[in-house]
Amino acid sequence: MHHVESRATLGGKLSAVLVAAGSSVGLGNIWRFPYVAGDNGGGAFLLIYILCVLLLGLPVMVAEFTVGRASKRNAVGAYRALNPRWSALGYNSVIAAFLILGFYFVVSGWTAEYMVHSVTGSLAKLSSPEEYGSVFQNFISNPWRPVLYTALFVLLTHFVIALGVQKGIERSSKLLMPLLFVILIALAIHAMTMPGSGEGLKFFFKPDFSKVTASTFLVALGQAFFSLSIGLGTMVTYASYFKPDTNLRHTALNVTILDTMVAILAGVVIFPAVFSAGIEPSSGPSLVFITLPGIFNTMPLSMVWSAVFFLLLVIAALTSTISLHEVITAYLHEEWHMSRRAAAWATTVATMALGAVASLSLGVLGGWKICGLNIFDSLDYVTANILLPVGGFFTSIFVGWRLDKRILKEQITNNGTLKFRIYKLYIFLLRYVCPIILLLIFLDNLGVF
Ligand code: PHE
Repeated sequence: MHHVESRATLGGKLSAVLVAAGSSVGLGNIWRFPYVAGDNGGGAFLLIYILCVLLLGLPVMVAEFTVGRASKRNAVGAYRALNPRWSALGYNSVIAAFLILGFYFVVSGWTAEYMVHSVTGSLAKLSSPEEYGSVFQNFISNPWRPVLYTALFVLLTHFVIALGVQKGIERSSKLLMPLLFVILIALAIHAMTMPGSGEGLKFFFKPDFSKVTASTFLVALGQAFFSLSIGLGTMVTYASYFKPDTNLRHTALNVTILDTMVAILAGVVIFPAVFSAGIEPSSGPSLVFITLPGIFNTMPLSMVWSAVFFLLLVIAALTSTISLHEVITAYLHEEWHMSRRAAAWATTVATMALGAVASLSLGVLGGWKICGLNIFDSLDYVTANILLPVGGFFTSIFVGWRLDKRILKEQITNNGTLKFRIYKLYIFLLRYVCPIILLLIFLDNLGVF
């Protein structure tokens, strides 16, 4: 194995948790989670989601950390270095990262636009759910504004990476992410005082199993992987920069807990407000954008709340886009031997083009459909519900069955310096539980049962 020279490593224990949490916590928690939960019946979905996070997400995250730190490479190079036959898993990662960026940048652009509208006061002028809905619809289908915001967001990500200000972002996340948390709690408390909010809490927490179908499991699984940033080598890439003494299990556990708490909090903010305003919980990707203004506008100092909230959301999205961008940049840099600068530009230009098409597919290019879905929805569907679970399936098989057990043990116990009492349970989960459940969920969706 030849080693790539002069790779960066991350600071202390906190940094590993921070950057991994920075990748995980993002629009997936605050935008995507409420909309898929609303689409899939609420309470029962939440329960299945949490099971997916614990039984499948957590073991796969530890497996990805292991692959990354053992090989110290980009996603493709990592699998190739450990076992050349498995490099396809790395390609799945790079492709998934590219396709996710295609729609993620668009939604990030919307949050930036909403931040601007909060500051100028134009959001505060609106007063009914119909108005929030039509303003949102007009905005996303506009032929140039959302494309411009998407492009701006791509460039923002690019320059944060290129100027090496990631460290600054990393450090400021220490302050900003707890702040996001505090604001979410404040919003949740306010949302619960809105008239009719009890219905929303019931919808979100009381499982109604009559609403569960085969696809509920797949969507919950896909959401879990998407939200935890696993199944596509982001955590492989990040762990390749971890220090030898980073505790992989604790890092994974902390990230998982944080990520899940943010998602649940987002649900506690959104659903009471959705029911209070009489919005359909199954409104799809627009749900959060048409619900939030209604919450802010019933609060004192509404402009301040909404501007700060959308600013934090922009930053949460940025720490996620950085991690996705890094998967592709590290791959091009290390495997194609491009300079980091050229690799970063290639990634930026390609994702900008895809982002523009995805954005336009909500308006002028709405006629372009793949299996009945427009480009934006197809990118969202294919990555979360197919590529990430497939990535997770093969990662658990690879680490559970193929990877030299000494490497796994070395990584998880930091060369024997940490105890790992549940090692046997962990291997059992990776070898049997994860692949079998993942397979069953897939077969179920294909209508085999
Ligand atoms: N987990 C991020 C979020 O919840 C999105 C993401 C997915 C980031 C996959 C990296 C990899 O917003």
